[in-house]
Amino acid sequence: MKVLSVVGARPQFVKLSAIAREFALRDVEHVIVHTGQHYDEMLSDAFFRDLDIPAPDESLNIGSAGHGAQTGAMLAALDDVLLRHQPDWVLVYGDTNSTLAAALSAVKLHFPVAHLEAGLRSFNRRMPEEHNRVLTDHAADLCLAPTASAVEQLAREGLGAIAVDVGDVMVDVLNHVRNSLQASDEKSEPSGTFVATIHRAENTDDPARLEMIVRALASSPLPVTLFAHPRLIAKAAEANIDLERGSIQLQPPASYPALVRAVLASSGVITDSGGLQKEAFLLRVPCTTLRTETEWQETVDLGWNVLANSAEEILAALTRAIPSPTDASPYGIGDASSRVYSALAKAH
Ligand code: UD1
Repeated sequence: MKVLSVVGARPQFVKLSAIAREFALRDVEHVIVHTGQHYDEMLSDAFFRDLDIPAPDESLNIGSAGHGAQTGAMLAALDDVLLRHQPDWVLVYGDTNSTLAAALSAVKLHFPVAHLEAGLRSFNRRMPEEHNRVLTDHAADLCLAPTASAVEQLAREGLGAIAVDVGDVMVDVLNHVRNSLQASDEKSEPSGTFVATIHRAENTDDPARLEMIVRALASSPLPVTLFAHPRLIAKAAEANIDLERGSIQLQPPASYPALVRAVLASSGVITDSGGLQKEAFLLRVPCTTLRTETEWQETVDLGWNVLANSAEEILAALTRAIPSPTDASPYGIGDASSRVYSALAKAH
């Protein structure tokens, strides 16, 4: 079976690492295509290196642009790549512009498309990721869903017949990285700090909201290590917002293992990232999410994640009591990549 994976942005490299490791053990000819949506060393190459991902077979070097120009450039470049490789499956990941471009290219050229992380919804039509998810699920031939609730959502949209609950590959990746950190014998002493990331357009591109968030983090009772995505740096500079003040300690984006280590040692996570909300939950570190909704409602229902949208809500969330322990595993047990392989092989 020949599977062509299309990735382009940081969270997709993380998911690809679990899939590439699994496919290497199976009878899969795996072609990796990197659109170039993320190109900075710390957003791209560092992930391939630290997570032992094979180098891409094709690099499209599309880079940054507005949504239409970026997605369109990827779509045009992908047509040629797909036609040359003639895959049995095109595997697309998550909800970025690279996901949508690959799904569109594949469906137009009649190559079967499988969507990993299907069925997630924020129901917020202002998020670019929400358009990407909905359109990709409806273009796909196979929806590989991470949770039972994602499968239920796909069924409500008439996609039940092509939906499979495979669990979440992020659990596979996190288990792998946590095991290597433990094996490397690096002691993880509690740091007494919060770990923060902010990169979503809803937060970075609205100066009033960004200023409110930065002010709240600056007045945190504990130091806040803010791993800053280039988008945050650029938008803060544009709006004249000083990121280095009060409790905030500004850092460049972290590698995946370094982030896991920092979260494990921290007193809590503050983020608008989808992946990090779940990683915090899996590592049983309380999370404060700077968004009006989350695709990972299970983390909220189980008490480990709180949505906060004003300075008061953020500070209240940072000083809340530690949540009650839980052994719930709504994201599966870490065998998602093997279940992805089985679902693809079965439908092949
Ligand atoms: C993208 C995804 C988002 C995902 C995030 C992970 C979409 C619509 N959004 O957001 O879902 O959570 O990746 O990080 O696809 N930039 C650089 N260097 C890079 C890449 C980007 O400096 O390597 C800067 C550029 O100024 C660029 C901006 O960041 O314009 C935004 O990059 P883009 O890829 O459009 O979206 P992200 O915000 O990274």
